[in-house]
Amino acid sequence: MAIRNIVKEGDPVLTKICRPVERFDDKLAALLDDMYETMLNGEGVGIAAPQVGILRRIFVIDIGEGKQEFINPKILKTKGKQEGSEGCLSCPGEFGITERPMYVTVSALNRYGDQFTVNAEGFYAKAICHENDHLDGILFKEHVIRKLDPEEIRVAKAMQDKNKKK
Ligand code: NI
Repeated sequence: MAIRNIVKEGDPVLTKICRPVERFDDKLAALLDDMYETMLNGEGVGIAAPQVGILRRIFVIDIGEGKQEFINPKILKTKGKQEGSEGCLSCPGEFGITERPMYVTVSALNRYGDQFTVNAEGFYAKAICHENDHLDGILFKEHVIRKLDPEEIRVAKAMQDKNKKK
């Protein structure tokens, strides 16, 4: 496993539409492992392939309940609404209040090509929406309804740490 370089906002790679994964091979497994390690190293709760410069439909999430990999994900259903703070490994130091669905149903493939479906709620649903957006070249800023001031950023970071340790 290796920590990869995280692409930062301003790089055109973050604005592209990613292509589906077609080969479920060792190279894919290595990419997934590297993405996970890179995410943990950056203290993030999710990371998408374009954030390490790979234009494929892949993201990894760990909100403190273990690693979950999503390949060629499809959001089948969303319900409700939530407002809360959000940040991104590609936009260091920036946080904002976003509006996201409260519930998300997503189907995806794992690294072996097996399909699964997740019904996510709350923080997990928000993370899925955030990462799925990256696959279509969309950053969380497009969902921000208000930016945070420095004190609110401090609280948001503490909340994120708490969420991870749960
Ligand atoms: Ni992000």
